[in-house]
Amino acid sequence: MKIAITGKGGVGKTTLAALMAQFYADQGREVLAVDADPSPCLAGALGFPTDLRSKLTPISEMDALIEERTGAKPGTVGGFFTINPRVDDIPERFSVEQRGVRLLEMGAVDIGGSGCICPESAMLKTLFTHLLFRKDDILILDMYAGVEHLGRATVDFVDAMLVVVEPTRRSLGTAAQIKHLAADIGLTRLWLVGNKVRNEDEAAFLQAETPGLPVLGILPADLAVQEADRLGVAVYDYVPALKKAASEMADLLVEAIS
Ligand SMILES: Nc1ncnc2c1ncn2[C@@H]1O[C@H](COP(=O)(O)OP(=O)(O)OP(=O)(O)O)[C@@H](O)[C@H]1O
Ligand SMILES: [Mg+2]
Repeated sequence: MKIAITGKGGVGKTTLAALMAQFYADQGREVLAVDADPSPCLAGALGFPTDLRSKLTPISEMDALIEERTGAKPGTVGGFFTINPRVDDIPERFSVEQRGVRLLEMGAVDIGGSGCICPESAMLKTLFTHLLFRKDDILILDMYAGVEHLGRATVDFVDAMLVVVEPTRRSLGTAAQIKHLAADIGLTRLWLVGNKVRNEDEAAFLQAETPGLPVLGILPADLAVQEADRLGVAVYDYVPALKKAASEMADLLVEAIS
């Protein structure tokens, strides 16, 4: 099962990715979580300890590896390089694992048709496509906002795209944009996830104003989320209300796409 998580900046994509990843892992499933944000935070939300985190480097920053695989130095424009470098060993070699969640940091990824034609983008595009083709039990992609950077493989292999929103018109506006962009490329398996919802009114607002996307579930606003971050512990362990809500969503999603 391949799940991509998107939405406007700061809405809670990484928090949701961490919660779902740990839930599936606790169920005994094999989880590969991929942080595809230019400034990776998923390790923190998962409560990975510092020594484990220090072993992680975003693939986009591994200049020597990129040069070895593509035949050209990152940052070079023009010249020859391999556009389909070998990447099959990367998920295992450059990830770290804790409590059943394997984590890979990709770094700044531009995997669509746009962006530069350079060794690092060739490497990341190939890796991203490889991840989508792999037969991982559960793949969770913590993306950044928008879907314009998504290519054909995403449409074919992502089982669910979760669009995280806060109960604000602005955030729902972004969700509507994502829905349109997704429709343009033929991606239809989208769900809305409400986050930072403080009361019934806000929950009702989300349900009423959804841009035609089914609401998978709602995560309550809880100051303990920030506390968990400060303490360096997993939101999953520290905030029972979020653990419960996300677990229900994760179960629902399995039912919805099987
Ligand atoms: N349910 C919640 N209640 C309270 N605070 C929350 C909740 N969910 C997330 N936050 C806080 O909101 C901030 C953004 O959360 P998070 O990093 O998960 O969002 P994001 O969408 O991944 O952000 P970015 O776009 O920067 O990657 C964090 O400070 C987090 O602690
Ligand atoms: Mg994030």
